[in-house]
Amino acid sequence: MKTEQLHMNIAIFASGGGSNAEAIIRAVKSGQLNAQVSLIISDKDHAGVLNRASNHGIPAYTVHPASYASPDTYLEALFAILDEQDINFIALAGYLKKIPSPLVDRFQGRMTNIHPSLLPSFGGPGMYGRHVHSAVRERGVRWTGATVHFVDHQYDTGPILLQKPVPVHQDDTADDIAQRVLRVEHQIYPEALQLIAEGRVTIEGHRVLIEPQIPHSPNHS
Ligand code: GRF
Repeated sequence: MKTEQLHMNIAIFASGGGSNAEAIIRAVKSGQLNAQVSLIISDKDHAGVLNRASNHGIPAYTVHPASYASPDTYLEALFAILDEQDINFIALAGYLKKIPSPLVDRFQGRMTNIHPSLLPSFGGPGMYGRHVHSAVRERGVRWTGATVHFVDHQYDTGPILLQKPVPVHQDDTADDIAQRVLRVEHQIYPEALQLIAEGRVTIEGHRVLIEPQIPHSPNHS
């Protein structure tokens, strides 16, 4: 499936501080990412990402799945918010709630996530935040990293779009590793989204193919 070139109108889903959301928003503002961020959705009332949204004048909603009468009414509410802003792409950035299947289906090939390890290592249920970096440290791997992947129906199993490795030093704490990985996350998430914006990405089964950039032809006079 080729992700056709699209003017990405992005909703970012985040539960925490929102530094990845910030990196994406700044990449848009600087022109590095040719897209628009029109909506932030969180599941936590006091998530730092909500302050970032208000600093940038981006509409933000807190949506608590448990406060809806049923999964269907929760889903209807989510769809209504997304439709109201004409969202055609979802970027998960530290969002801790499971994404309902119908939403995954509707945004197939148009929903990405960032994970703070080199998937498929150190991914899956329970592998989020500090748990990932503690497991990396305890397992004694020399390299970890960050992964941007498309979202499918399971945790962290969707087609991998970009990865970048980060070294693990033997005197690192889990927090040291987290900080080093986070810096790389902030680079590769906007880069990955820009590849999609340029229409250079094709999903083939579990593989993601990236069209090389066409070099500018030199001007002959
Ligand atoms: C990041 O490490 C991301 O990979 C993970 O959750 C963390 C979110 O950090 N999914 P932030 O809220 O973007 O600062």
